[in-house]
Amino acid sequence: MRIHLAAVCLSFWSGVALAQAPAAPAVAVGANVKHTAFRPGEQWHDTEGNLINAHGGGVLRVGKTYYWYGEKRAQQQEEGVTVYSSRDLYNWRYEGVALQPSTQPGHDIEQGCLMERPKVLFNKKTGKYVMWFHLELKGKGYSAARAGVAVADKPTGPFRYVSSFRPNGHMSRDMTLYLDDDGRAYHIYSARENYDLRIARLSDDFLTATKQDTLLFSNHREAPAVFKTGGRYYLITSGCTGWDPNQATLHVADTLFGPWQELGDPMRGPNAQKTFGGQSTYVLPAPGRPGSFIFLADRWNPKDLKDSRYLWLPVQFRQGQPTIEWLDRWNLDFFAQPGAKSAGQ
Ligand code: GAL
Repeated sequence: MRIHLAAVCLSFWSGVALAQAPAAPAVAVGANVKHTAFRPGEQWHDTEGNLINAHGGGVLRVGKTYYWYGEKRAQQQEEGVTVYSSRDLYNWRYEGVALQPSTQPGHDIEQGCLMERPKVLFNKKTGKYVMWFHLELKGKGYSAARAGVAVADKPTGPFRYVSSFRPNGHMSRDMTLYLDDDGRAYHIYSARENYDLRIARLSDDFLTATKQDTLLFSNHREAPAVFKTGGRYYLITSGCTGWDPNQATLHVADTLFGPWQELGDPMRGPNAQKTFGGQSTYVLPAPGRPGSFIFLADRWNPKDLKDSRYLWLPVQFRQGQPTIEWLDRWNLDFFAQPGAKSAGQ
């Protein structure tokens, strides 16, 4: 597939790379291993020793606990949305399937449907956890192009399916949610056969999209991941090549509704032009470190989707601009180093 880029290519950053975290030894805990670092691209096991199965995911912080939601995959088939919890971001406890596919024939989320790229927000007004995901109906390929919504009383679920729709009539495939500081929430989604990236403000209960729904740009982008620092919004997206990796793009704006300015590819170093073999899914503010962010991506393995790997990498600020560089191994101490933090914070 063609990738439409506005041909903005940043000059290659040639400064001195920040040191990686020293290889921290893994400490055996019973039959399991306690992780003390991120190891992008390697198999990542939960606290029971099983492979973490949470693809196209996002992370929600509730107090001191992080919840990681993602697609549960068999070799190919999608089997609902899993949730894991963690206090340190390295060690994740399996909390189960937060949203189960339905066993009822003809149901929107009947087993065999696709529930991709789930993201969860907490709604302060209703006291509910609200999940949005990209829904494709069973046996219909990617033609339904709907946003699905589910709700729960606890972050671990169980989530109850609420509805699915095309926001304001627009196709809705890859997506993310963003909760702004003022409590307003937004759905950012690929529309019009992925040619358009749009944003819609959510209703106050977060259960549906309002009419405040705007085209961001028409560059044929997907896999949106948003973060905000120094009063500016940043948006990382991928091109549209299915499971195959492609070049990421960074956009910046002063307001979520734009205008969005393209800044080129934020990835740096070997295989950067293919996002290190991955595809963006989320950007997570680093715990207790304002202005520091972790970029989350999936390195898809279409032959065995459950063994698709996770790429978690620190966002580094070069001349005030977010960049992402490959590290084999790193830990959160990385953010104590100069350049690992936005000056805007
Ligand atoms: C990608 C998309 C993934 C998944 C995949 C299926 O473009 O980002 O979430 O839908 O296509 O081929």
